[in-house]
Amino acid sequence: MNSFYYELPVRVHFGESCIDELTEVLGEYGPNVLLSYGGGSIKKNGIYDDMTAVLRKAGKNVFEFSGIMPNPTYAKAQEGAALIREHAIDVVLAVGGGSVLDCSKAAVWQAAMDEDLWEGQLQRGRFPENPIPLLAVLTAAGTGSEMNKEAVITNEELGIKESLYGSYPEHSFLRPSYTMSLPMKQFISGAFDSLSHCMETYFGGPRRIIVSDELNESVMRSIIRNLRLAIAHPEDLEPRSELIWDSSLAETGILKIGKQTDFQAHQIEHQLGAFTDCNHGFGLSAIHAEMYRRIYKGDVARFARFAREVFGIDPSDMTEDALALAGIDALEDFIREIGLPTHLSEIDITDEEILRKTAETCNLSEGCCTHLSREEIFELLKACM
Ligand code: NZQ
Ligand code: ZN
Repeated sequence: MNSFYYELPVRVHFGESCIDELTEVLGEYGPNVLLSYGGGSIKKNGIYDDMTAVLRKAGKNVFEFSGIMPNPTYAKAQEGAALIREHAIDVVLAVGGGSVLDCSKAAVWQAAMDEDLWEGQLQRGRFPENPIPLLAVLTAAGTGSEMNKEAVITNEELGIKESLYGSYPEHSFLRPSYTMSLPMKQFISGAFDSLSHCMETYFGGPRRIIVSDELNESVMRSIIRNLRLAIAHPEDLEPRSELIWDSSLAETGILKIGKQTDFQAHQIEHQLGAFTDCNHGFGLSAIHAEMYRRIYKGDVARFARFAREVFGIDPSDMTEDALALAGIDALEDFIREIGLPTHLSEIDITDEEILRKTAETCNLSEGCCTHLSREEIFELLKACM
């Protein structure tokens, strides 16, 4: 097995009563809190009131950083950094989905740097030193941002959506009922994002099956099973709870130990997002099956195993190649079954020029069994349209 260093410094509070623990946690930090959130859903569903009650109880001075948009921009993160500096903020309480968490992380990291975060990190390999702490209250699961030190940010000036890296949230609060007000389609999009994180890890190297792959198969089965249950019983907290934890698990780094991760579909989708502002999970669902049809020959055995272990396809009387393809078909059928797009035209991406720009600007991954060239990515995107 490859050498590795593993740590997970995030302290996770999971369950319906977890917000009770937030008051005590806030006591660990200084008086000035920046409450960051998105476009206002937390004001409609009562989560804002819960947060302000907890902050009041903890005796904090509260400042607000609101209006964080889906696919958060670098300019918005700069706005957050300015607020952190202006009010000498001691801790950020980020309340939302991946976008709010990512934008808040980037704001915290920028505030800790005396140079431009984007340029410093991507051009000079500089990282923030001693950024102020961030606490996350998750209202939409899927990205796993609550468990990692990554922030995916759109730089509108450059036309690039890119991952920045810094610190982990110090505490993450996962209360399943906080996702109840999320439109079902967005909930499904998040769950598919977590399945995509699993697949993009699973189909990376090495070729032999290691324990991380077997754990991953189990998480993928759980996502598929619980997504079906959550759609059939939207009021039931149990499948939702499982899905939220599946999504966090996929980003704890545990499934990536010993693996060379791929994330080529993500790299493509991020650039589609930069050019069209499309929903992350929808963009991924439109790409995955077609991408796998184009690369599976590089490791037929693994794709065949995916068909058998994840989608439970009976391998009797099938060649390995036919089994591998049946697994990819099953993935596509599943995407249709849960109501997500299998083509980019379903999310109004019909401009070939955008596909060309996406193929020309996305990062190319080294992780998977077959590496796609820019021309092959363009052909793939045309087929996905
Ligand atoms: O703006 P608000 O009011 O918060 O509304 C949001 C937004 O409109 C809404 N929402 C969230 N919780 C809700 C709710 N509406 C009603 N009730 C609730 N409880 O849902 C909409 C989408 O939210 P968003 O945060 O954008 O979704 P998601 O969690 O899918 O995050 C997507 C972003 O995360 C990035 C994606 O690229 C995208 O920018 N990713 C971050 C990663 C990471 N940090 O590790 C990895 C991922 O692969 C991904 O790239
Ligand atoms: Zn993702």
